[in-house]
Amino acid sequence: MRILVLGSGAREHAIVTALLRENAGHQITVAPGNAGIAADVPVIALDATNPAVVTEFALDNDIDLVVIGPEAPLVAGVADKLRQRGIAVFGPGRAAAALEGSKTFAKRIMDEAGVPTGRAVRVGTLDEAVAAIDEYGAPYVVKADGLAAGKGVLVTPDRDAAIAHATYWLGQGSVLVEEFLDGQEVSLFLLSDGHNVLPLAPAQDYKRLSDDDEGPNTGGMGAYSPLPWLPAGFVDEVIETIALPTVRQLASEQTPFIGLLYCGLIVTDSGIRVIEFNARFGDPETQVVLPRLVTPLSGLLFAAAIGGLGGLPRPEFSDDVAVTVVLASEGYPETPVTGRTIAGLDTASAIHGVTIAHAATAHSDGRLVATGGRVLSVVAIGTDFAEARSRAYRALEAIDLEGGHYRTDIAARVAR
Ligand code: AMP
Ligand code: GLY
Repeated sequence: MRILVLGSGAREHAIVTALLRENAGHQITVAPGNAGIAADVPVIALDATNPAVVTEFALDNDIDLVVIGPEAPLVAGVADKLRQRGIAVFGPGRAAAALEGSKTFAKRIMDEAGVPTGRAVRVGTLDEAVAAIDEYGAPYVVKADGLAAGKGVLVTPDRDAAIAHATYWLGQGSVLVEEFLDGQEVSLFLLSDGHNVLPLAPAQDYKRLSDDDEGPNTGGMGAYSPLPWLPAGFVDEVIETIALPTVRQLASEQTPFIGLLYCGLIVTDSGIRVIEFNARFGDPETQVVLPRLVTPLSGLLFAAAIGGLGGLPRPEFSDDVAVTVVLASEGYPETPVTGRTIAGLDTASAIHGVTIAHAATAHSDGRLVATGGRVLSVVAIGTDFAEARSRAYRALEAIDLEGGHYRTDIAARVAR
């Protein structure tokens, strides 16, 4: 297949790695990609958020399937334009992508579909925000309504901090105040063709910057899969009570969801609750889900894109476990320092079971340099979590990036 992947993160590198592993002779192009992706497949510097530019490229190059990695092209309507021109695309149109782009829209869809989620109220003024903050009580959960690149959510015991967060984001638009949900978090990805869904393997993401879940929320600092502590029947329950009702609701509103329905869940004492939906693969969870996938990824994505998931068996996963740890630049998430040299990747990736998924990397004057906050994901598979963790952390010790930092407790709770 001729496949165009849009995006430039470790998630897209992991997607490319999974497609190459099929050994099916795919011709893969990534726009815009990064230095690590460019070492594996051709990359092209086009504006992935411009629907006309992407569509013209896809038509000119006889692309069979476009896979959209990040949310920005979805929200910009890239999938809509491609579909109008008859190109198979894995990724929802702008209207269905609002499931991620607008928390108010997501809450309405969940309401209509009867999907279990925390109580929330949308506020437009500071007085309303303070009233809602006091009604729900501590710990406080305050969220920006629109896309905020992982920075819009504050969970805090500090009422003044909650009010300050609401004040800041009210300056940019509306704000959601939510009931705090207590429990383990699970990310479950479902492939959707607009009507049918197929689950991938559950993963857990570490959203806080520092060990023991200290520090600010980030885009994600590490992940592992599978989750040995999940109750039996968990995936079936999510499909029946969350994924299918959501997909049916969107289809009934003529905005079918074709792509990756990312269910961000909390397992509370009173049941599974949705904290958020995303309209795309998660990063870094993808880096631990796809290395375990045995079923060819291209076939799954193409079937979803053309409405053909009905009747297909569930994707198969290997018994290996996977751990990923994100290496971040000094100053991430507030003000990441860029331009510093990255060394030691050859030594790191020579460790058995280890691959490096690049994110913010580029070549400059013959050096590999960091160009952003989350620089790369070290991915390690193993027969158990102790083995995968030891491989991942040995690889990180081999990598040199001045000021670079990472969490040391990824998957520690499941490693014996
Ligand atoms: P979100 O961007 O909505 O996924 O939120 C980022 C992170 O904030 C989540 O992964 C949770 O760790 C935390 N969070 C968000 N909403 C809640 C909630 N209602 N209760 C507890 N934690 C939450
Ligand atoms: N890892 C969280 C996300 O992709 O949104």
